[in-house]
Amino acid sequence: MSEPFYITTAIDYLNGQPHLGHAYEKVVTDVIARSRRSLGQQVFFLTGLDEHGQKVQQAAVAEGKSPQDYCDALAVAWKGLATKLNLSNDDFIRTTEPRHKQVVQAVLAKLHAQGEFRVGTYEGWYSPKEETFLTAKDRLPDGNFPSSYGEVITLLESNYFFPLKPYQAWLIDHIESNPDFIRPAYRRNEVLGFLRSETLEDLCISRPKARLAWGIPLPFDPEYVTYVWFDALTNYVTVPASMGDAGAAGPLGLPVRPEVPPLWPAVHVIGKDILKFHTVYWPIMLKAAGLAVPRQVLVHGWWQKDGQKLSKTTGNVVDPVAVVDDWGVDAFRYYVTRELDLGPDGNWTDAGFAARYQAELANGLGNLVNRSLKMLKSYRAGKVPARSDALAADATKAAEAVKAAYAAFELQGALIAAWELVNRANKYVEETAPFKMAKDPTQAGRLDEVLYSLVEACRILAVLLWPVIPETAGKIYTQLGLAGAPDRLESTSWGGMVAGSEVGEPQPLFPRREPAAKDGNACKTA
Ligand code: MSP
Repeated sequence: MSEPFYITTAIDYLNGQPHLGHAYEKVVTDVIARSRRSLGQQVFFLTGLDEHGQKVQQAAVAEGKSPQDYCDALAVAWKGLATKLNLSNDDFIRTTEPRHKQVVQAVLAKLHAQGEFRVGTYEGWYSPKEETFLTAKDRLPDGNFPSSYGEVITLLESNYFFPLKPYQAWLIDHIESNPDFIRPAYRRNEVLGFLRSETLEDLCISRPKARLAWGIPLPFDPEYVTYVWFDALTNYVTVPASMGDAGAAGPLGLPVRPEVPPLWPAVHVIGKDILKFHTVYWPIMLKAAGLAVPRQVLVHGWWQKDGQKLSKTTGNVVDPVAVVDDWGVDAFRYYVTRELDLGPDGNWTDAGFAARYQAELANGLGNLVNRSLKMLKSYRAGKVPARSDALAADATKAAEAVKAAYAAFELQGALIAAWELVNRANKYVEETAPFKMAKDPTQAGRLDEVLYSLVEACRILAVLLWPVIPETAGKIYTQLGLAGAPDRLESTSWGGMVAGSEVGEPQPLFPRREPAAKDGNACKTA
């Protein structure tokens, strides 16, 4: 775990408001970043915004603004989401920043000098909405193009193309010999299936300025801007390259600063819809530019709500900001991480959210911490008794399982393992009935054992859960009278609570909520 760990999210298009899907990806990436830090690794976590291209230009025009003014105004709300979600990102990139333009142009200049590009004429169908060229293969059986492409037009234009075919055999070999490069395995198989059955077409990497001005100019032809995906993917290298990381800056001829820790290559967290961009185009771009390919691509599924696609038009949306305002940031972070494993698709229901909140957070973790502290306050004036090991084996087992799960990016699994301890400790309260012992002076020694075991289990849970619910974990630490943050997984060895130390004031962590009114929503989602 000594190597620095560089992790990124997809950068979101700045053409609307953030929704559940965007927030989910940022939260799970943050959980991975925090868990790696807690496991002792040096982490660099990057997220940001994809601001060029047709979609953004169109959105700006619709609001009567210049693309830059439009982006500057909207970027404030998106950066605010990162804060709202309590992301621990080390940097936030916007593709309109000068540092990014410099790196994109360095990549383009290098590939151009190597003779990787050709000029060609394109004549055929084009989707302005998706900014992509279409072929007959993209048509539905009825001859129309899927509605996701919006209006499809025909185009005749000259552009720069990047032939990918010379790299195809190398890429297949790379994916075959690195079984963990793309996860989960079914996404890896999907990419391999495609690469083995189809010849890669040349990638069009430019757009004529006359048609689309909102992009980064090609350094070797001012009549063109860079294709938005070529621009956007490069963001992952922009940050380490402009910091002077040798592995990113060096091959591009940018200044290297030896004191900068080696960051590149990164682990990318992305949604299933942008798999091909990240596992075909991007590795080939990097290989051609002489940079290492990504360490890993973790592909998550898509959320629906009530079994239907999220859609602004139909109003079937979950506003993450509204949920956080209503229920608290950790309730949101917990639910999305616990409900959906990294990979499959998920379904948000307000009832499911409220049920997990009530059962697992309020009655599970919240109740455990609250009653453990309250009993210690009432029966021992808040003073931690001598060490007892009654729950030590359960806590050690949970801690080992949680750490192993974090190390394997099994975030849902980490929570399931942690809740074994929550449930065990709550059951221990029922079994031992400390409220009865407190009435019987001959049981004083036993009561000390129970009280110690409970507060120590709470301490360990704070550490185990910090990557997912950092705010709550911090509150547990404070209520236990502990200084600092519960952000070191090595501190989960049993026996950390010091006999004679004094705990703080118990405060409910997850206030119980009234069940939803019949005609109302358990949770505000829009
Ligand atoms: N700008 C590109 C990514 C460029 S990365 C170099 C893009 N942006 S996006 O805003 O459309 O999507 C950003 C991320 O959110 C993607 O990883 C996408 O898969 C994810 N999601 C968008 N909708 C989603 C759901 N409904 N559910 C889960 N994630 C979803 O693509």
